[in-house]
Amino acid sequence: MTNIELCSTGIEELDIQMSGGFPNGSTVLLTGCSGSGKTTLCMQYLFEGARKGERGVFFTITEPLFKLTKNLEGFSFYDKKLIESGMVNVIDLRIISERLGLDAEKYTVEDAGALLDILKDIANELDVKRLVIDSITALCYRLQSREMIRDFIFKLGTSLAVMNCTTMLTSEVPPQTYKFSQYEIEEFISDGIIFVGDIDRRGDLIRTLQVVKMRGTAHSRTKFAMNISAERGIELVPLLKSSDFDSVLMEKVHSSLRGMDMPKDKVIL
Ligand SMILES: Nc1ncnc2c1ncn2[C@@H]1O[C@H](COP(=O)(O)OP(=O)(O)OP(=O)(O)O)[C@@H](O)[C@H]1O
Ligand SMILES: [Mg+2]
Repeated sequence: MTNIELCSTGIEELDIQMSGGFPNGSTVLLTGCSGSGKTTLCMQYLFEGARKGERGVFFTITEPLFKLTKNLEGFSFYDKKLIESGMVNVIDLRIISERLGLDAEKYTVEDAGALLDILKDIANELDVKRLVIDSITALCYRLQSREMIRDFIFKLGTSLAVMNCTTMLTSEVPPQTYKFSQYEIEEFISDGIIFVGDIDRRGDLIRTLQVVKMRGTAHSRTKFAMNISAERGIELVPLLKSSDFDSVLMEKVHSSLRGMDMPKDKVIL
């Protein structure tokens, strides 16, 4: 890939998989079930940008601000100063809807248009380079018909395409399903899709992450095991195929014979 500027995510292994990051200006759909780590990944992406001098905005419609901040405080990538200095802006779309006098649960076509205009104005005014909407599913849920949802998503796509920033949209899907969105339109306005899922491994739910599509980059589609920890935030490690299992088992036997711990940088599928 040449001459495309990249937007690093702050997750080392993910950036390596995409030859450096999301192509600047992309819209990336981050799909997963509840608790799969979508919000955390988006926040890590925004704080990574802020550390590099790229201002970001996070629009939430599912979690109140105080809860979001409280959850974030445990992570080492979180830096209160970046919030205070306005490098990372967290905005509750429900508060904006309230100020616009909109019904919090149901939007008309005009309401959705007004909200979209405000969202664009905020992003332009703050001159953000990174934008997150968490979640596109909850936003569309407030629209009354499939036609309205379709119309809104396409308008959002058109707006994002001309904005000077790289966007992550989170998408909620039921657990253990391999689909990318609730309304099956969201993926069509997205340049990239990242799927976070689970694998049940002997009663333990292992988190997984896979880059499904990323326009403009030669990326790997390998499924990784994903770990969330306070110290390192989101990190990825290779998932070994069953054919690798015997060698890992032998490694384990030899390690225990030598009184060593098992390497912790591999997860067996
Ligand atoms: N400080 C922490 N250290 C380690 N893991 C954490 C920490 N905080 C949260 N987690 C893990 O992250 C999970 C929640 O992640 P997150 O909120 O990003 O998921 P989500 O996909 O946005 O969920 P939802 O769809 O409900 O909004 C928790 O269930 C927990 O396993
Ligand atoms: Mg979330």
